[in-house]
Amino acid sequence: MFVSENLGVNEKGNLTIGGTDTVELAGQYGTPLYVMDEQAVRKACRRFKSSIDKYYDGKGLACYASKAFTCLEMCRIVADEGMGLDAVSIGELYTAVKAGFDVTKIGFHGNNKTDEELEYAVDVKVGHIIVDNISELLRLERIAEEKGVRPDIMFRIKPGIDAHTHDFIKTGQIDSKFGFALETGEAFEAVKRAIECKNVNLMGLHCHIGSQIFDIEPFEEAGRVMLKFIAKIKNELGYEIKGLNLGGGFGIKYLNEHDPVPFETYMEKVSEVVKSTCSELGITQPYIFIEPGRSISAPAGITLYTVGARKEIPEIRTYISVDGGMADSPRYILYKSEYEAIVANKATEERTERVTIAGKCCESGDLIGENMPLQHAESGDIIAVCATGAYNYSMSSNYNRLQKPAVVFVNNGESRIAVKRETLDDIIRNDI
Ligand code: LLP
Repeated sequence: MFVSENLGVNEKGNLTIGGTDTVELAGQYGTPLYVMDEQAVRKACRRFKSSIDKYYDGKGLACYASKAFTCLEMCRIVADEGMGLDAVSIGELYTAVKAGFDVTKIGFHGNNKTDEELEYAVDVKVGHIIVDNISELLRLERIAEEKGVRPDIMFRIKPGIDAHTHDFIKTGQIDSKFGFALETGEAFEAVKRAIECKNVNLMGLHCHIGSQIFDIEPFEEAGRVMLKFIAKIKNELGYEIKGLNLGGGFGIKYLNEHDPVPFETYMEKVSEVVKSTCSELGITQPYIFIEPGRSISAPAGITLYTVGARKEIPEIRTYISVDGGMADSPRYILYKSEYEAIVANKATEERTERVTIAGKCCESGDLIGENMPLQHAESGDIIAVCATGAYNYSMSSNYNRLQKPAVVFVNNGESRIAVKRETLDDIIRNDI
């Protein structure tokens, strides 16, 4: 009935998430409110892990891409599920370290890492660093030499694949700021350089072709391209690359009409391609990493708002204004991303209207969505926007000096705060 499996309706006719009444959550914690369903996160982690076990004989690790949504509690849950982690900045890495995440399972990313970030990653002994460019390789070599260590590294490669998704979230094509290009020979030269270097251990290659991808073919193609490159390195340089990271990007259902391929199917197909390509090329099957972000956190989350003004502009549109907006939900203004919305206290009613849900920021483009089917909403109603668990909290801002909402986890009918709502003093805490 609703877009995410963990949503339902209780005897009061209120929307529930993970069995918890969303209207009560709004009353207890205030709005706007991010709500994450712990069991949904855990279930998604288990699906990734069991698919690797089933289709790739357990020779791989799913690393949660923490850019999608992270905080101490999220790291603890993901760690408890035995996942690895993809951290893309010192802030994400610090969060994971403070949460007690097993650092050996962390891959450290970033297309322009600072020396401070590289030094921190080396000091905390992350599992591996995914090197993006030559200048970074040279800086890391120097840092590793100074510290007398030899970190494991991977190279981020642009496999030259054009995934069918929004331009802003495509990354595998040659015209991308991420990684070494294959076509130009840049990647091969960098591999030669790394092999010669005493202070780093090139243990793998990485690619990530984009995000919110529904087809399997681009992933299969990326796998083939990367394995061919691994074979070329073996044949021409006599060097064995042991790890292959195929990135994240698995599409999720934001609207009922979306039909993403189940992750199990992805893993089955990609494993077949990896196995058959390896035997064709005469190379050892690599240890596989994948980096799902959105597919773990998005369906687990919703955002709750309270309706303020209702403005009907005859023949034009109806605006339903809520107490948040682009500061906590930036994906519409950035990508025109579509979401399902539900009036949480009228969840059994028909959606009889098409409305524009507007935020409270001083910006006309500050919308949660346009032309959204919705139950008749009035001031004081609670609106739930669904599948918002990825890239909303993590991309939120204090625009207009709005306070960032709290994050609450629900688990089998219980709820707890994971991130406190910002206070007015938080807003000025760094001002002098
Ligand atoms: N690995 C790498 C190297 C990545 O760059 C990303 C996402 C992921 C994994 C995880 O991708 P996912 O499984 O979450 O699709 N802000 C945009 C999405 C940006 C994605 C950036 N990289 C959005 O809100 O749609």
